[in-house]
Amino acid sequence: MRIALGCDHGGLELKKLLHSFLEKEGHTVLNVGTDTPAPVDYPDYARKVAEAVLGGKAERGIMVCGSGVGACVAANKLPGIRAGLCHDTYSARQGVEHDDINVLCLGGRIVGPELAYELVKAFTAASFSNAERHARRRDKVTALEDEFREKRP
Ligand code: RB5
Repeated sequence: MRIALGCDHGGLELKKLLHSFLEKEGHTVLNVGTDTPAPVDYPDYARKVAEAVLGGKAERGIMVCGSGVGACVAANKLPGIRAGLCHDTYSARQGVEHDDINVLCLGGRIVGPELAYELVKAFTAASFSNAERHARRRDKVTALEDEFREKRP
């Protein structure tokens, strides 16, 4: 799978480990940075991950910040992105199967490498169920994006 991988300074160490792990697992990684410990703004990198997914350069994205919260908030601002902050393997798998998440957000200051590897494995191994109820709910999320985009002043 082609995976866009990004982080801010709070997620850099975990992102570096995940980069090697993903390649070892046979994935192709599109690294969008950041690549130095200098403080940066997580929306800039969440945007890069999201744009890679929306533009078809990657099938899914992984974004790491300090807590994962800011990354998730920012990524979800791009219509078409369904980002989930998943620090347990059940959510990392079910988020794809039921909710069709296309970006996994992680907190580099929250989870250690071994758990992060398991989360990434659960996320990448899962597929959307295509069950009618899951597609209907996913499509209602998309409809919310459309409706409230039009309502903005
Ligand atoms: C950066 O210090 C930190 O605020 C950021 O990585 C993240 O935790 C935001 O959600």
